[in-house]
Amino acid sequence: MSYIKEFKSLRLYKLFLEDENLKKLRSKDSFWKEVSEAYGVRRLIRPYLLRDPFYVVVDVGAGKGIFTTLTALMHPKTKVVAIDPDESVKWEHLKNLKNVETYKLSIYSEEFLKLLKGFKKVIMVGIHLCTHLAIRFAQVYNQLEEVRVGVLVPCCVGDYPEQTFKVIEEEIDKYTAWSIYLATLFKGKVKTKRDSKILSPKNILILATKDG
Ligand SMILES: C[S@@+](CC[C@H](N)C(=O)[O-])C[C@H]1O[C@@H](n2cnc3c(N)ncnc32)[C@H](O)[C@@H]1O
Repeated sequence: MSYIKEFKSLRLYKLFLEDENLKKLRSKDSFWKEVSEAYGVRRLIRPYLLRDPFYVVVDVGAGKGIFTTLTALMHPKTKVVAIDPDESVKWEHLKNLKNVETYKLSIYSEEFLKLLKGFKKVIMVGIHLCTHLAIRFAQVYNQLEEVRVGVLVPCCVGDYPEQTFKVIEEEIDKYTAWSIYLATLFKGKVKTKRDSKILSPKNILILATKDG
């Protein structure tokens, strides 16, 4: 079943038809693509949240916060934290969600690191983080013991050792080569998979875990 069909079959989908703020979110052009991305990522973190709902899920570069919204609604016991430094991002729809916190912060800032260190166990998610932001995501994962699980969906290709990845780049494509390079940056257990149910060609998911 497609992620969109799955989403529409949920009871909570009704909220997207009734709540004014969520209706506005649903009317955006990129909504269904972003729902499919959020679903793909949530599928990877679901086993961890079923085992322990008290992980804090941190959505880095959250943008409009579609992943934050879906995860918070589907896991009401779990705290979900949206982070984005862009002052123009509107988070009206997140205000009514009791298990959501929002911060206008950069992944490079000390405040960001301090915030994450204040949580016991973090699942850090980065959906479509471009270029250097994806590299920084891996650095934070490696640096902070509190971050137990990381899921990164790479986006625009940044600087990487192209010579080393030339064969892959020629055989497959640059986005795949970039994603494989990013996967090498995470310490410990890492899995990479392409999820064809995501409605975007940039559909590679990197799952890094310190928690088995
Ligand atoms: C391509 S958008 C992805 C948004 C969202 N994750 C999604 O998939 O719809 C990248 C996001 O990264 C945010 N961003 C840019 N610089 C950042 C930084 N230094 N730290 C954290 N997020 C940043 C942007 O504001 C933007 O919302």
